[in-house]
Amino acid sequence: MSLRKVTIQSLIEKKQNGEKIVTITAYDYAIAKIVDACDLDLILVGDSLAMVMLGYQNTLSVSMDEMIHHTKAVSRAVSNALIVGDMPFLSYKINKNEAVRNAGRFIQEGGAEAVKVEGGTELCTTIKAMIDADIEVMGHIGLTPQKIYRFGGFMVQGKTIENAKHLILDAKNLQEAGVFSIVLECIPWQIAELITKEIDIPTIGIGAGPYCDGQILVLHDMLGIFTDFKPKFLKSFGNVRDSITDALEQYKNEVLNVIYPNKDYSYDYVGDQLEDLKEWVENNDLNKEAAELSKIMKK
Ligand code: KIV
Repeated sequence: MSLRKVTIQSLIEKKQNGEKIVTITAYDYAIAKIVDACDLDLILVGDSLAMVMLGYQNTLSVSMDEMIHHTKAVSRAVSNALIVGDMPFLSYKINKNEAVRNAGRFIQEGGAEAVKVEGGTELCTTIKAMIDADIEVMGHIGLTPQKIYRFGGFMVQGKTIENAKHLILDAKNLQEAGVFSIVLECIPWQIAELITKEIDIPTIGIGAGPYCDGQILVLHDMLGIFTDFKPKFLKSFGNVRDSITDALEQYKNEVLNVIYPNKDYSYDYVGDQLEDLKEWVENNDLNKEAAELSKIMKK
């Protein structure tokens, strides 16, 4: 089956046609290849890789170089979904020029087609500078994990009227600045529904209820590979951790009991000099032979 290339325009058309947008994270070549064959719309190389791939405590520790490294691996695998690189903590907040330069690295070195940034109205000037440099940008509001120390943890946002109004205005301003889509993370579904109705670009929810234009999840969370914590919104769509554990138990058992590898999984020596070789092994001082070989190799 040949799949169609997803573009920013085709995502916006999906919203206009009332079709849901399905997106997911991926961080490496092999998994991205599986994901891309499943005809999803967008793959985010999320900074969540800090936790699920690299074992950092939160997303703040991951560097630009680490993000580019993973984005390169994903873009080598993907030919259908739109690839978005997630800009890590501080990489777009120091000044506009640095933000544009770092965003450009995702496109030029990483092979991404767009970048995602966390934040609202305060980021609009920076976002405009990126778009002026021909870099497509996705927004992200609500629970933005790069602000966890300000929020005091992974807390649902938009629970007060003031906070909800702020989120709606942020979404409006991000659209005005030119983002092509906005991730809404961990906000009450009624607020996400309001935002989705108020803007023309697609909203992509994660913990934001059923009325967003699309959905994203962290692949390692929904497959049960990363199990350090489980937010309320997370539905398990598989138990890959148990499959991996079962496979490794079986592998260990077969190696310990000399069941695997048997000769079916081995290469046969087909030459007719095996007896000569065995004789040579028996009748020679192999330490001396090995020393001779290293002398020759060092020359
Ligand atoms: O880093 C990430 O994976 C994300 C998604 C959860 C939206 O930002």
